[in-house]
Amino acid sequence: MFIRKFLEADLEEVSGLVISNIRLLGKQSYSKEEANALIKASSPQEISERWAGRETFVATEEGKIVGVAGLKGDKVKNVFVQVPSHGKGIGKFLIEKIESLAKERELKKLWVEASLDAEKFYLKMGFKKITQFKKKMPDGTKVRMLKMKKKLEVLE
Ligand SMILES: CC(C)(COP(=O)(O)OP(=O)(O)OC[C@H]1O[C@@H](n2cnc3c(N)ncnc32)[C@H](O)[C@@H]1OP(=O)(O)O)[C@@H](O)C(=O)NCCC(=O)NCCS
Repeated sequence: MFIRKFLEADLEEVSGLVISNIRLLGKQSYSKEEANALIKASSPQEISERWAGRETFVATEEGKIVGVAGLKGDKVKNVFVQVPSHGKGIGKFLIEKIESLAKERELKKLWVEASLDAEKFYLKMGFKKITQFKKKMPDGTKVRMLKMKKKLEVLE
């Protein structure tokens, strides 16, 4: 598996990966209304606008994008792994990349607005749940999310 910076040329592929994950969330913890709002916010054009100003990375296998993750300040953003490859360590690989970047920058903590379904994953990654809240999406729909935080160990 390789990791590289997200490029404008990846927009369509990444949008497809994100939307297939949201469809899955829509069958699990989220209502249709919440899932639809998340899908609308994940078109190539919306992603291009909303992800500007974030550092975003993609994990690839044989040239295909299998996961994505970003960092904006001390916030972990848009962590998604392609659906057939959940549970194979790709999410962990991406979070470790984000954490090493955060440590290089001497950040003391990381925050994430996690999906309800991702709570156990982030707990495994050392995050703590702070609270559940409702995030207002661009179309005005409120979507339940978890605010989670991880304290980082300072590099020697
Ligand atoms: C959440 C997500 C990013 C995790 O990525 P992943 O590649 O499936 O996770 P990994 O295989 O790297 O798992 C890392 C660890 O977390 C655990 N874990 C992951 N998902 C879990 C779950 N749903 N329940 C319990 N444990 C889980 C794994 O067992 C593994 O533990 P280990 O290190 O002891 O073996 C991925 O499942 C995903 O894209 N989900 C849908 C979208 C989403 O909710 N994204 C988060 C938005 S903030």
